[in-house]
Amino acid sequence: MGFVPTMGALHKGHLSLIELAKEHADEVVVSIYVNPEQFGPDEDYKEYPRQLEYDLDECERAGVSAVFTPGDDIMYGDEKYLSIKIDELNRYMDGGSRPGFFEGIVLVVNKFFNIIEPDVAAFGQKDIQQFRILTQMVEEFNHSVDLLMGPIIRANDGLALSSRNAYLNDQHRKIAPGLYRALQFVKKQIEGGAKNLEMVLNHQKAELEAKGFEIDYLNLFCFNRMAPVNETEPGMKYVLAGAVYLGETRLIDNIIIEL
Ligand code: PAJ
Repeated sequence: MGFVPTMGALHKGHLSLIELAKEHADEVVVSIYVNPEQFGPDEDYKEYPRQLEYDLDECERAGVSAVFTPGDDIMYGDEKYLSIKIDELNRYMDGGSRPGFFEGIVLVVNKFFNIIEPDVAAFGQKDIQQFRILTQMVEEFNHSVDLLMGPIIRANDGLALSSRNAYLNDQHRKIAPGLYRALQFVKKQIEGGAKNLEMVLNHQKAELEAKGFEIDYLNLFCFNRMAPVNETEPGMKYVLAGAVYLGETRLIDNIIIEL
């Protein structure tokens, strides 16, 4: 059995994970649940797009065997005496910017794995720190599930698909692909052996800011520890990742770099 957890508002990124899961499983289960535990008090839990009827049709068209759409009462009863703590892996990137975010994700995915008992589960590279932390969860909590990572599905202009793209106004939507372009530029510099990574990154940040982006982070991280690095070594795996705001909308993107 394959499993694809989602928060709904399904797009081609989600559908690609369903296809990936189908390649590795006879039956695919999708969950659609906007998990309150992974939203901060000032985040968009209330506004998060909910379109269950459309999503169920998409799942049916994609050949999904079952969709799990629990309510909060099913996922979180009245009693809650335990919580998750994550060391190290959530100190930087989205973990650094969104306190409690990955604790909420580990909590809910842990529950999903116990409820659904899948053999394989598919996650997107789009949320690379999520994938890294869940890989660690599977190992440390001895879940018997294999995780699959699907590539980032993008719009024609390069913008990574996201349920949150629906928040962008026309002007912001036009400039939004700038984040991916900045990442591609930095990747080329790194692969070309650029000596001063900090300077390259600062330059791209300034360019993005001039276009109207507010930068949360734009940095090179060690894949294994999800911590920033200043220098690269051959044979190592990195993730070049950025998070930006366009107005209120937070966009993330990344490129994996193996030297
Ligand atoms: P959600 O944001 O709905 O994403 C569900 C899955 O789709 C995640 O694994 C995410 O990485 C993947 N995804 C999103 N955009 C993608 C894209 N453009 N290309 C490929 N895959 C993409 O991630 C979550 O929900 C939640 O944290 C969840 C794991 C469901 C726990 O609540």
